[in-house]
Amino acid sequence: MKHSELNIFKDNNQKITCLTAYDASMAKLIDDAGVDIILIGDSLGMVIQGDENTRSVSMIDMLYHTKIVAKACNQSLVIADMPFHSYDNAVTAVTNAKELISNGADMVKIEGGIENTDVIKALVSNNINVCGHLGLQPQLVVDSSDYKVQGRDEDSSKIIQDNATLLESLGVSILVLECIPSNLAKLITNKLKIPTIGIGAGKNCDGQVLVSYDMLGITLGKQPRFVRNFLNSESSISSAIKAFVLEVKEGSFPNKNESY
Ligand code: KIV
Repeated sequence: MKHSELNIFKDNNQKITCLTAYDASMAKLIDDAGVDIILIGDSLGMVIQGDENTRSVSMIDMLYHTKIVAKACNQSLVIADMPFHSYDNAVTAVTNAKELISNGADMVKIEGGIENTDVIKALVSNNINVCGHLGLQPQLVVDSSDYKVQGRDEDSSKIIQDNATLLESLGVSILVLECIPSNLAKLITNKLKIPTIGIGAGKNCDGQVLVSYDMLGITLGKQPRFVRNFLNSESSISSAIKAFVLEVKEGSFPNKNESY
């Protein structure tokens, strides 16, 4: 997928698929299976480095993983997460984002809304494509008790909606919505021209993302309800990834039990 195709997918009601990758072998399997977007998520702090949250991931980590993933990708759009504190102000954000882009990313992802206004303006005016991330923001999670569905009451729902509209007006290209009620995700998706990519946000988003380790059952411990283990009903990693693509494209993932 090319950046210019994002809105075409949305306008044609074609669902967008996204999985995380952290290494070249997995990235190649995901790219070959026709996944539209590969995200080098700072979830690597948890699934690769074994930490309780994503906050200790550094720019050095992200540059390393972005480089090895990007060189394995032929068709997927490559998005790299900007780690915690790497976009504290506009100057730092532009410097760090440029490094991720020169290591092979097509776009960078940052968490949060109005507090990032100056950062997003600076990134966009430097021709850096930006993916937003609202709802549950993993960089604000300290321990497992912070993993909660966001936007359940009227006030927090309105904040997420207002931030989504703001991000679009600032020039963000695509928006990840994590762990919010599906009716809120539907409202935002219908309001925005840019595509929304949901994780725990129901089936009405324009696309779906999962952490690859979660959808292959590699992650240990209790999984959130929005995670489906696609390897349970498939005999190889490659066919599990293809099953994810198929089920997202035809709208059967996520189902009601996998949503809030
Ligand atoms: O870091 C990550 O993998 C993410 C996804 C959960 C969207 O941000």
